[in-house]
Amino acid sequence: MAEYLVHLCFGPNCTLAGSRKLLHVLEEEIAALGIADHVTVVPTTCRNRCDWAPSMNVLPGNVFYNDLDTDAIRRIAREHLAAGAIVDDYLFRPPPPPVPTHGRRVFTFDPNAFRPKDE
Ligand code: FES
Repeated sequence: MAEYLVHLCFGPNCTLAGSRKLLHVLEEEIAALGIADHVTVVPTTCRNRCDWAPSMNVLPGNVFYNDLDTDAIRRIAREHLAAGAIVDDYLFRPPPPPVPTHGRRVFTFDPNAFRPKDE
């Protein structure tokens, strides 16, 4: 069976988003699955993905999970930590990089911004 190291973010944004509750859920699920000898869970500092909190990394692979809730944690424990399958539904998907402007300022125009509200 694979050995996993789990970094669950306890940074300020993830804590506000519920990561402390998720730690208990994760530990309970790991115990229920009987995989506690193969999984080490470490609460960590910010994972630098605060806008998608709560964040969690699973190593090896450095798999980034985000927008986690209790269902997500249970699925990741069952499917990834116990069975080795990455749970695609909760993978971190960074936004596309900004389009290069080559020094020009880019303005967006909303044609509805000047229409009367009751139209
Ligand atoms: S506080 Fe968790 S990613 Fe920043």
